[in-house]
Amino acid sequence: MARKKIALIGGGQIGGVLAQLCALRELGDVVLFDIVQNMPMGKTLDIAEASRVDGFDVELKGANEYADIKGSDVVIVTAGLPRKPGMSRDDLLATNAKIMTQVAEGIKQYAPNAFVIVISNPLDAMVTLCQRITGFPSKRVMGMAGVLDSARFSSFIAWELGVSVKDVNAMVLGGHGDTMVPIKRFANVNGIPVYELLKKKYKGDMTKVEEVMTAMVERTKGAGGEVVKLLGNGSAFYSPASSAIAMVEAILRDQKRLLPVCALLNGEYGVKGFYVGVPVVLGAEGIEQIIEMDLDAEETKLLKISCDAVEELVGAMDKVLAPA
Ligand code: APR
Repeated sequence: MARKKIALIGGGQIGGVLAQLCALRELGDVVLFDIVQNMPMGKTLDIAEASRVDGFDVELKGANEYADIKGSDVVIVTAGLPRKPGMSRDDLLATNAKIMTQVAEGIKQYAPNAFVIVISNPLDAMVTLCQRITGFPSKRVMGMAGVLDSARFSSFIAWELGVSVKDVNAMVLGGHGDTMVPIKRFANVNGIPVYELLKKKYKGDMTKVEEVMTAMVERTKGAGGEVVKLLGNGSAFYSPASSAIAMVEAILRDQKRLLPVCALLNGEYGVKGFYVGVPVVLGAEGIEQIIEMDLDAEETKLLKISCDAVEELVGAMDKVLAPA
């Protein structure tokens, strides 16, 4: 059976790590596309020359032409500018919307049967635009945000409780911005609610428990910005790449994983026609199921605020893209 083909549009920081992870896990042959001449050829050559050492059998190719992504099974999009310190993801809207327009047209023409995972920010708007331009079924076009935001939340919980992060389950829903909604109530360590463990740690002092939980939630919301500030140039790239790879693996290996994914809603959670982060089942068909959780009043309110922010962002994008 022929190997799967994975196209990476954008050969910058995230694109490079994605290419290496695809190779290390032998997920398929890789085409790394960028508008910068030669650079993606250099990166893929560099990674390929480690194949003997790392022991992988996949082909890696750099590209400056969309024709090279022909027949891809999966396309991951990171093309666009990253944030600089002090910028919000939304500040990237105008520039990245123009880039996404070209990218989506390239995908539509050369990889009409591909699953598309968008990482470029502002995520919720970029994935919306990508689906609109490609016209692909929404189960094949999704955004990566929730896996990363949830991984960050899980890390903070593990560090606070002094337990292995492998045993932590926590989900973040909503848009990929300041309004994202970490679901505190269901966060658990191998089934034991994080609230219960914090209560034990702080000997029943519920004020302290709430304070610690709130601090973890706030750090999760600002986690991307925290990295941007420390890096001084560019934004997070290792963890976004790993998170997208988990989604690719779920699809290519038909794992049926239940993950928070930025998906086009059609009435679920009272939202119609917008991309929002929700739990889905990810398998060989892409988004095979959207799971509607029973949220309480506070979670519902926060998710509504987040969805409104996404709606506003998409409205702003439509204005930017409208012909003058
Ligand atoms: N087509 C293809 N690639 C493009 C285009 C385009 N029209 N315009 C820019 N690029 C490429 C750049 O040449 C660069 O190599 O996109 C790449 C982006 O890489 P980085 O600047 O290193 O950014 P990165 O850290 O990888 O983040 C990419 O993901 O998380 C988001 O906010 C982040 O929007 C940003 C994106």
